Amino acid sequence: MSTLVTGGAGYIGSHVVRLLEQRGEQVVVVDDLSNGIPARVPNATLVELDLSAADAESRLRAVMEEHAVTAVIHFAAKKQVGESVERPLWYYRNNVEGLANLLAAMESADVTTMVFSSSAAVYGIPDIGIVPEKIDCRPINPYGQTKLVGEWMIDNAARHGLRAIKLRYFNVAGTGWPELADTAVMNLIPIILDRVAMGRAPVVFGDDYPTPDGTCIRDYVHVADLADAHIAALDHIAAGGIAESVFNVGTGRGASVLEVIDAMSSALGRELTPEIAPRRPGDPPQLVADVSAIERELGWRASRGLSAIVESAVPAELRP
Ligand SMILES: NC(=O)c1ccc[n+]([C@@H]2O[C@H](COP(=O)([O-])OP(=O)(O)OC[C@H]3O[C@@H](n4cnc5c(N)ncnc54)[C@H](O)[C@@H]3O)[C@@H](O)[C@H]2O)c1
Repeated sequence: MSTLVTGGAGYIGSHVVRLLEQRGEQVVVVDDLSNGIPARVPNATLVELDLSAADAESRLRAVMEEHAVTAVIHFAAKKQVGESVERPLWYYRNNVEGLANLLAAMESADVTTMVFSSSAAVYGIPDIGIVPEKIDCRPINPYGQTKLVGEWMIDNAARHGLRAIKLRYFNVAGTGWPELADTAVMNLIPIILDRVAMGRAPVVFGDDYPTPDGTCIRDYVHVADLADAHIAALDHIAAGGIAESVFNVGTGRGASVLEVIDAMSSALGRELTPEIAPRRPGDPPQLVADVSAIERELGWRASRGLSAIVESAVPAELRP
């Protein structure tokens, strides 16, 4: 018996692979290595396969049968908002067609357990600061749309026997093991670290938002806590009935951009003085997860705060 992890050679997926292996489980990783790194998953069986390829469904079915797969955790996707605006069809091909192939293979191989990587991007720009799962989802870019469509596809499959949990991640950051660190320079903390490494000041986009210090507030969740949430989701499905099937994953507490920069100054042992730039379009002032549902139903809550996130993200060469 084994668990199939799509996108398992990626940043978040490799953290979950490691937790599964620590529990003594067999893991098969399916990844096209477009953004994955094989060295992150040295102990798993790695199958190089593009989920959106024409023959993906039959190849996935064969992998599931050969390795006696009983559960799937689906991370494989393209994830850059700006790129999704430039290449929307490519995003639909990868994220929606890839999921369609995966669901079809699961159905024919009779695999009925799934955990899906969704995103707070499904909410768009909500008009409330603490976001519960039940508000209307209005994604504002193709990336968020593909995640919402993915949730709908899974809900439809659930009517035919699939038992799935969809996790809507907020701002994922930090690292559980240095060798699994996020190598993409896309999110606030890696962007600041990149600028510091080049001897440049961090940039703050807008300091006139209606928040206590004027900068945007987000919910930063440690990738190691997020990885634990996937294990909790698998255990919840294995334990029986699923009352709710979609959960926010965050801390329930927000941190402003200036608070993140302060935490990074402490971790780096040097004062960072940011440059202030104009607001970027599409940035809501505050986006924080309501985490009551995941706490109640899965018994999961984040245990690491902002300073632990930032400390773990700072690479050895930048440490004081
Ligand atoms: N990182 C975040 O802040 C964040 C936030 C919300 C949701 N998510 C979601 O979490 C998941 C994992 O994100 P991550 O940060 O680890 O990204 P990542 O890019 O590090 O990992 C994704 C993995 O999927 C693989 N992949 C991509 N397209 C594929 C395809 N067509 N076929 C097979 N493999 C493919 C890549 O090679 C990579 O290894 C994604 O679905 C992403 O949308 C991430």
